Amino acid sequence: MDEVVIFGAGGHGRVVLDILAQAESYKPIGFLDNNRQLHGRRVDGLKVLGGMDMAASLYADGVRRAIIAIGDNGVRRDIARSVEAAGFELVNAVHPSARLATNVTLGKGLVIAAGALVCAHVQIGDYAILNTGCIIDHESMIGMAVHICPGVRLAGHVVAESGAFVGIGATIVQNVRVGFEAIVGAGAVVVQDVEPMTTVVGVPARPIKDAPSVDEFTALLSPVGADPRDPMALRQ
Ligand SMILES: CC(C)(COP(=O)(O)OP(=O)(O)OC[C@H]1O[C@@H](n2cnc3c(N)ncnc32)[C@H](O)[C@@H]1OP(=O)(O)O)[C@@H](O)C(=O)NCCC(=O)NCCS
Repeated sequence: MDEVVIFGAGGHGRVVLDILAQAESYKPIGFLDNNRQLHGRRVDGLKVLGGMDMAASLYADGVRRAIIAIGDNGVRRDIARSVEAAGFELVNAVHPSARLATNVTLGKGLVIAAGALVCAHVQIGDYAILNTGCIIDHESMIGMAVHICPGVRLAGHVVAESGAFVGIGATIVQNVRVGFEAIVGAGAVVVQDVEPMTTVVGVPARPIKDAPSVDEFTALLSPVGADPRDPMALRQ
């Protein structure tokens, strides 16, 4: 089995370690985590080797594969990019109890947790998390560094743009688009599009934090020209 290093030894890191152990797809060799109190300790039996700045020395020692096990979408995306720039290949952690249609498209560095159901023609972007027991129905698109929390239900043709966070137990009806870095609160029922960088809660979901102004939003767009409304687009 190929060796893999796990970035992040918190709660999500423990989930990812368990998935890798159950999937028997890679051999975890240790965690890297910037919490110094964890250094040298074992988390669920796997040693925390040191901070994330140890990546280069691990690479020099021949470790070539990594997975980023950090729940925060922006932090996960940024670390994933720098780890890839350092030469690592990001691997996927897919729990053996997850069920994926044969024609699902998978990016890299993504996590699909226990009991997730992913239906026909779904596309999943890089660094996404499909958490425990979520249901992603047909032809939905899960963008880069999106987090779909446990028990979320997405109907068909839903689009979650890059960096969106869909809280635990939320339901999103068909054909809805959840904007770039928007937040859907726990238990919400989303029946219409969610503007980028907006937080919505409740049944039916309504905004509690408005999107930034057009000028603020434009200033946040990628300087390399990636389209943030493209769910798979990269963004600086
Ligand atoms: C939506 C959310 C991000 C808002 O967090 P926040 O920005 O800190 O907002 P606040 O806690 O200040 O709440 C603001 C208001 O929205 C309400 N609210 C917050 N979350 C809500 C929710 N999920 N459903 C309904 N109302 C909610 C609060 O009661 C509060 O109402 P008030 O102004 O009348 O008192 C958060 O509550 C949430 O649902 N997070 C999801 C957590 C989750 O899924 N975790 C799983 C990780 S795997």
